[in-house]
Amino acid sequence: MSPAIGATVARVDGRAKVSGAARYSGEIPLTNLAHAVLIGAPVASGRIAAIDCSEAQRAGGVLAVLSHLNLPKVAAQPSLLPSLAGMAAPGQSFFPMQDDTVHYAGQHVAVVVADTLERAEHAATLVRIDYQQSSPTTLIDQARDQAYVPQKIFGGLLPGQDARGDVEAGLKQAEIRIDATYRFAANHHNPIEPSTTTAEWDDSGRLTVYDSTQGPTATQMTLAQLLGMPPAMIKVVSHFVGGSFGSKAMIWPHAALAALAARHVRRPVRLALSREQMFTSCGHREEQEHVVTLGATADGRLTALRHHKLSVTSHFDDWAEPSLQSAAIMYACPNYEGVYRLIRGNTNTPTFMRAPGEASGMFGLETAIDELAERVGVDPVELRLRNFTETDPATGDPWSSCGLRECYQRGMELFGWSGRDSRPGRRREGNWLIGTGMAAAAYPHAQPVNPQRARARIYLDGSVVVEAGVSEFGTGVTTAMTQVAADGLGAALEQVRFLGGSTDLPNITAAVGSAGAGATSAAVHLAVTALRQQLIGLAVSDEKSPLHGADPAGVIVEGGRMCRRDRPEAGEAYAELLQRHMLPDLEAVSNWIPPAQDAGHGMHTFGAQFAEVGVDADLGLIRVRRLVGVFAPGRVLNRATAHSQLMGGMIWGLSQALQEATRMDARSGRWANASLADYLVPVNADAPDVVVDTVEVLEDVVNPLGVKGVGEIGIVGVAAAIANAVYHATGYRARHLPITLEDLL
Ligand code: MOS
Repeated sequence: MSPAIGATVARVDGRAKVSGAARYSGEIPLTNLAHAVLIGAPVASGRIAAIDCSEAQRAGGVLAVLSHLNLPKVAAQPSLLPSLAGMAAPGQSFFPMQDDTVHYAGQHVAVVVADTLERAEHAATLVRIDYQQSSPTTLIDQARDQAYVPQKIFGGLLPGQDARGDVEAGLKQAEIRIDATYRFAANHHNPIEPSTTTAEWDDSGRLTVYDSTQGPTATQMTLAQLLGMPPAMIKVVSHFVGGSFGSKAMIWPHAALAALAARHVRRPVRLALSREQMFTSCGHREEQEHVVTLGATADGRLTALRHHKLSVTSHFDDWAEPSLQSAAIMYACPNYEGVYRLIRGNTNTPTFMRAPGEASGMFGLETAIDELAERVGVDPVELRLRNFTETDPATGDPWSSCGLRECYQRGMELFGWSGRDSRPGRRREGNWLIGTGMAAAAYPHAQPVNPQRARARIYLDGSVVVEAGVSEFGTGVTTAMTQVAADGLGAALEQVRFLGGSTDLPNITAAVGSAGAGATSAAVHLAVTALRQQLIGLAVSDEKSPLHGADPAGVIVEGGRMCRRDRPEAGEAYAELLQRHMLPDLEAVSNWIPPAQDAGHGMHTFGAQFAEVGVDADLGLIRVRRLVGVFAPGRVLNRATAHSQLMGGMIWGLSQALQEATRMDARSGRWANASLADYLVPVNADAPDVVVDTVEVLEDVVNPLGVKGVGEIGIVGVAAAIANAVYHATGYRARHLPITLEDLL
């Protein structure tokens, strides 16, 4: 392999992004563009009693006011499907503005379209709506007694409960038992770019949509279903997306509303969610409670693990983020039971949010494990090694790759863990109580369930375009795929351009669940390999080529020049070959069929997190002083972008631990802090020195290049490592997130 894969390559789209040349979905210049503004219900439960649009309709520049009274009905009831398949993937099965019911605060009840954004915003204030309210349920504590175990969660992908062995028997055997309940506030995504859809119809009834989405095809298929149109009549473009964190993984109603509004006013329409609307329009991490019960022998070997999760979902979907997938397989424990319970509330359907599920599930487990280590009286790393599992404990299958021992080892070295006095409250520097803690990280490797495609085309001057319909929302996929393509073809990086973000390109599933780099690199690698084989085949069968008669397997390519491995002077460039054959271009399309998820290997990504905190003894102020994370994500495609993803993830873990919480005003059923001023996220001053490292593992199962992805694993375990460090500093055991200074007073 040439050094392109894995190298630190500056983002190929970096210049366009920092210079403003990159156009996001809300920046596409279109003639005659109109602007739509959504009106959200201020009540969380009830119905619309009356709606008066007359004044709004008379306001200057207004083109339409749409509500359930005049909006055309959608062609099909959306059905919840996970977007990893690249199929229709509505975020919820309820589509607003079809009747007068109100299920949650912020639900879209009207759309105002005007010739400018300001006039649309003004007219939206003139729409008079009367509501009949009923009292909302939005919190676990309001409806604990109504909890039920769903058949399936997560769009039907996972069972509502799961077990192995006999957990009761395992608990009876136990000499030590830990019972703990962990509570998590709701969280919202808050990407820099609020979701925006720009829709334009042409005279022949074709629709073009510029959408901030993690999956252009998912947007296309969802619109096709909702609008009752063939997908071939819909093109979705999404060249740049300003972050997402899962809020743009599923396709939410505003995208179809933009298209419906544009059809109604016969003009292109742009619909951008406001920051406040981002809190009620595209999912969130739901409020949840985890009850973790561990049984163990006196020397700390697990005999039983029970993990029950209770969370709030919408009135229409059984959604729970899958919090038990990593916790279930982390340790060699023969007896396990995991159960999801749900409460229906007045909320939109929750959704994927960065490290969906595992960020909370692993907090519960890894904090409980820290308690167990203390009870047993061993170092927390040692306790984890005593329960280390060499195989997937759910199936007995070997891991496709693991690397967890190496992550612990390397993390301890980088952090300086050895010699730690495990007793809490022993270290003090001035007014700061100092503590250290650690936790394991794990994230399931999700395989796409369908073929992944890419196209590679070389032109007669040797330049190359590689295309796959993947979305770039800041992950660095455009840069990494340029590297994969250059590497596979034996071309120089500068000769290769990667294009993504359009449904005109070969289909890649939505980039979700840390699966984007694996799926796309597999398709790109196969496409460029096929193209290279075509080119070599053409050369060896060409009497005019210096490679004539050579064994194709003995031909290598470097810098776009093919030559015989045993006689490097015998060769020619791709460009010479193509020009001699009068071929302006040559192309190959790949079709990567992913191995099945259950085909004989446990597929998981592992890592280890270490944290040092200082807690002000008088003020309760918590400062994270150091974070060290070491991960085994298989092949790293670009060291710099992978490092950024992992570091960003770790800082997100810090904010999960100490900052992020959306607070519910239970009387009104509305989020009380739906703004970036009130919803806390870390700034540079909150972020400590973050050390990120990866360990190499041989991974040849998950996909051709062995890429397991780095989108989520960096987050998992950080909050537990911090909470365990807070305990070590102070003796206070945090069982809810975020931990605030009030907890420490
Ligand atoms: Mo990711 S939270 O699965 O988009």
